[in-house]
Amino acid sequence: MWLVTLLLLYSLQKVKSEDVISTRLYFVNASLQRVTFSSSVGVSLPCPAGGAPHAILRWYLAAGDDIYDVPHIRHVHSNGTLQLYPFSPSAYNSIIHDNEYFCTAENMAGKIRSPSIHIKAVFREPYTVRVADQRSMRGNVAVFKCLIPSAVQEYVSVVSWEKDTVSIVPGNRFFLTSYGALYISEVQKEDALSTYRCITKHKYSGETRQSNGARLSVMDPTESTPTVLDSFQSGEVQIGHSVELPCIASGYPNPTIRWLKDGRPLPADSRWTRRITGLTISDLRLEDSGNYICEVTNSFGSKEVTGRLNVIEPLRVTLSPKNLKTGISSTVILSCAVQGSPHYTVSWYRNTEPVLPDQHFSIQGAHNETLFISAAQKRHSGAYQCFATRKVQTAQDFSIILLEDGTPRIVSPFSERVVIPGEPFSLGCTAKGAPPPTITGLWMMNL
Ligand SMILES: *[C@@H]1O[C@H](CO)[C@@H](O)[C@H](O)[C@H]1NC(C)=O
Ligand SMILES: *[C@@H]1O[C@H](CO)[C@@H](O)[C@H](O)[C@H]1NC(C)=O
Ligand SMILES: *[C@@H]1O[C@H](CO)[C@@H](O)[C@H](O)[C@H]1NC(C)=O
Repeated sequence: MWLVTLLLLYSLQKVKSEDVISTRLYFVNASLQRVTFSSSVGVSLPCPAGGAPHAILRWYLAAGDDIYDVPHIRHVHSNGTLQLYPFSPSAYNSIIHDNEYFCTAENMAGKIRSPSIHIKAVFREPYTVRVADQRSMRGNVAVFKCLIPSAVQEYVSVVSWEKDTVSIVPGNRFFLTSYGALYISEVQKEDALSTYRCITKHKYSGETRQSNGARLSVMDPTESTPTVLDSFQSGEVQIGHSVELPCIASGYPNPTIRWLKDGRPLPADSRWTRRITGLTISDLRLEDSGNYICEVTNSFGSKEVTGRLNVIEPLRVTLSPKNLKTGISSTVILSCAVQGSPHYTVSWYRNTEPVLPDQHFSIQGAHNETLFISAAQKRHSGAYQCFATRKVQTAQDFSIILLEDGTPRIVSPFSERVVIPGEPFSLGCTAKGAPPPTITGLWMMNL
């Protein structure tokens, strides 16, 4: 029988880097940036970030303060859900009920933060909506607008219009625009006999309101230059969505409407539709941005109005490399690629703390989009996040960096074994190191 002593195993084999980092951090909803709720209902907001196998979830005010429980007002559940309870107007506190919050998730891999989330309570406040009386000529158009107080404009929208308490079904001379106005075309004498009301709904309290009943005086046509009754000034719309640019005018003879974009006739494209309620552009593209001119003309003159449309792309951020494990004293380069806008600012965080340039960290690139970590130390491990911000839009991505003492180590060796000549056998050996080491096998025989 031979005693075989193997110093190291059989073949040359690259050791599998022992883990794709097994603890994870993630976002449940990275785009959550605004939460508005009714004071009479309250809100319950799960942390938009999380981790596996387990992460500690914490909420903060964007100003940096840790948040604390306020009995019957605010509570953070052990599962990381932030709860703001229903409250009466006297318990309103802007620091709690109208403020920027963020949530963090922390585990062994590091700590990430959500973008700031504006949490805002709205009250069931009394408000009235109004419609003003209008004048028009027979055969012309009439425009009714629902006047919503500016304090609630953000939450209150027109759901329908009524003619003599009967809900108007659009079509057949009556049109509702996407902005909530009522247009009546080919006005007739009997339109003056009715009253017109708008019905609105509050987005958060669900309350509906009915305006006063407005009337239309209908006159006989008299020759007149065009007057623009409704138009648009400027708008910002996301790529892929659709938009309606209103433009309507009265005058006799009835004016014709011509649209120009950046001084030229509209491109021939099936995405563009001209309706009485305006110019509709669907499936918006970036090149649809521009100055839109609506020119209304009849034999007595012409008028024009100009509006600006900006088509915007959502910001997207990609941080690379994604999850890196490397040895201490190496140089780590993180790059943050931002898409969706030429104008943005970039900020860097490590474990939710801003990265400050020092002897190890430097931030470079025209937009601060590259982070260099030179002679990286073990303490530089963690979750690195890159945030891009443009106006109210924010997007982020993160990467887990693990810095290890890179000296190769044998994790599971094998022990001496006695084998029978001619019989196959196997021996296992795993080693660890950064960068991953290779294992070399040698053998010696004692006869
Ligand atoms: C994320 O939040 C946004 C904004 O509140 C919301 O529109 C969207 O539906 C949410 N997405 C998911 C997957 O919950
Ligand atoms: C968190 O806990 C609260 C209170 O127990 C519960 O109402 C809520 O549904 C939980 N949320 C999640 C996301 O598990
Ligand atoms: C880059 O970062 C520096 C320091 O944080 C800041 O002063 C500068 O304005 C930033 N540049 C850009 C283009 O965001």
